[in-house]
Amino acid sequence: MKAYQRVVDYIEQRAAQGAWQHNRFLPSVRALSQSLGVSKNTVLHAYQLLEAKHVIRAVPRRGFELVQSVPAKPHPPRPVVLGATALDIIGPAQREARVVFGSANPDTTLNGRKEFFKTLSRAVRRETQSSDAVYTFHESPPGLAALREQIALRTHSGTQEIDKEEVIITNGAQEAISLALRVVTSPGDNVIVESPCFYGTLQCLEALGLNVIEIPSDAEGICLHALESALKSWSTKAIVLNPNANNPTGFIMPEANKRRLLALANQYDLAVIEDDVFGSLIHHSQRNSTLKALDTDGRVMLCNSFSKILDPSLRLGWIAAGRYFDQVNYLKYVTTLATSGIMQHAAADWLSSANYPRHLKHLQGRYRQKRCEFLDALANTLAPEVQVIPPQGGFLCWLQLPETCDGDRIYLEAKEHGISLTPGSLFGTLGQFKHCIRLNFALFNRSGEQMQALERVGQLITEAT
Ligand SMILES: Cc1ncc(COP(=O)(O)O)c(C=O)c1O
Repeated sequence: MKAYQRVVDYIEQRAAQGAWQHNRFLPSVRALSQSLGVSKNTVLHAYQLLEAKHVIRAVPRRGFELVQSVPAKPHPPRPVVLGATALDIIGPAQREARVVFGSANPDTTLNGRKEFFKTLSRAVRRETQSSDAVYTFHESPPGLAALREQIALRTHSGTQEIDKEEVIITNGAQEAISLALRVVTSPGDNVIVESPCFYGTLQCLEALGLNVIEIPSDAEGICLHALESALKSWSTKAIVLNPNANNPTGFIMPEANKRRLLALANQYDLAVIEDDVFGSLIHHSQRNSTLKALDTDGRVMLCNSFSKILDPSLRLGWIAAGRYFDQVNYLKYVTTLATSGIMQHAAADWLSSANYPRHLKHLQGRYRQKRCEFLDALANTLAPEVQVIPPQGGFLCWLQLPETCDGDRIYLEAKEHGISLTPGSLFGTLGQFKHCIRLNFALFNRSGEQMQALERVGQLITEAT
């Protein structure tokens, strides 16, 4: 095979894996020639061929832009092997850092969080001062009725996306996702995810012995064309999606795409597991509908928690399990028996008070502002070859570094400087995001230390390129 054809194949394959997003720039000719060990002329020739095929477009003084998602031939199902790396990265590395851009933890300095803890201490006082124990009994699955009702009423913007009768309280969204997967799959089954994919989901698939099919996503979410091609090729039990304010790229899937996706799920009888933990942190005023709200078939299991809007240490989440309610409820019961009763009472009180809507409004405004400040700061500190994907919601920012830059190395070097960040390699199983990193701006306040840290990350990227 001619060298330029190998470059064309490489680009088509990387684009099909979602390594570069649609409407984003490809690596420069120089960078790609270095990383593939071919001459600049060979890369240029490959780029010209792709331009003739209308896959990419030359933009004067900026480079080559990917204009068409390559007709995607998804990678066949394969087992997930992430191992313990992620645990190192999200554990000690975060705690030891001076400047935190790593784990997806929210801003914990807000008043709403303090209000919640006041509510919790009132519950503790009630328990300690009363002659009878109030919270002794397990709040057995599906959980405290008052909390289930408040969740159905208030956390989904009153749009009646969920029915209180289908809500089961869990230990965070992670338990909800795991229960959902366990109900609809057996080891060795195939599960589709969008790519890049939150590593907690990939780890869950790994632990359950499931095979993954990674479908590239772009600014509009999972590529439906590639999804359909995967569904035609391989029998698949479930799809796990994070369609509103996605982790890591912050996209919001348009409603028309959500409807098309549900039509495919119906056609191929697929269980849909929707992870909506960032769903209320949208950067424009209208909340986007969930897949659950559009589902007429009871096949969507909506997983959510208080981790991103309040505090992940509460370990309080829920699943609206639709037609799978009985199986999920049973599995929850035999797995962890119940979720903390006192926490459920406090959450029900807090949700029913005026604190919750006030907190949510404040939170949304805060992250909107931080997003602008953070994007500004990145524009001033990073080289133009670094592509910053502006999030449409949440507080995470995905960076595509030049092709030769190893995100794992940036992670390790930043750690030496007391800076935490998340390497892109965790978000895929094929090494397709090794040139990416994810930054969290929830705690960004433009302090001198944070600005220096961003400059340092920028330098590390430039040196590694
Ligand atoms: C997209 C996504 N889903 C689920 C989770 C797990 O959330 P929880 O803390 O509620 O278990 C996280 C945590 O970071 C996440 O980012």
